Amino acid sequence: MLSPKVEEAMNDQLQVELQSAYVYLGMAAYCESVSLEGFAKWLHKQAEEEYEHAMKFYGHINDRQGRVVLQSLEAPQADYDAPLAVFEKALEHERSVTARIDDLYELVNNERDFASQAWLDWFVTEQVEEEKTVGLIVDKLRLIGDRGDSLYILDKELGQRSQTEL
Ligand SMILES: [Fe+2]
Ligand SMILES: [Fe+2]
Repeated sequence: MLSPKVEEAMNDQLQVELQSAYVYLGMAAYCESVSLEGFAKWLHKQAEEEYEHAMKFYGHINDRQGRVVLQSLEAPQADYDAPLAVFEKALEHERSVTARIDDLYELVNNERDFASQAWLDWFVTEQVEEEKTVGLIVDKLRLIGDRGDSLYILDKELGQRSQTEL
């Protein structure tokens, strides 16, 4: 069974993952508005992935006889200056999520909830991948600068992100 502290923190993280999905969906909507369809597609996939993360927390809370209590979400940012601003924001967001996962990991350890700790290992590893993937796109966008032809190619490349790729 989850301790009340862990149950509350798991519900908070469920909100963070749903909020992440919402943030990426907002970014997709912006990219769609400037006809960067490949970027939009990539961001949609990312939003779906974040929803899956949220559902993992939903499942874990229930599996451990906890109670899922959904919280409200904030409206995500609607406008950005450029795709670079989108991905810089995404990187900043992922870093904040990593910090939240680390705090949760520390909490379950302090609460001696080793089942939750083992279960959270997947998220610790996943955040490494998330920061790496988003960071690579930031680097590419910085390299491209204001070259429209290169941005066009990157848009095509990102549009090829497959459903199974994480
Ligand atoms: Fe996530
Ligand atoms: Fe993420």
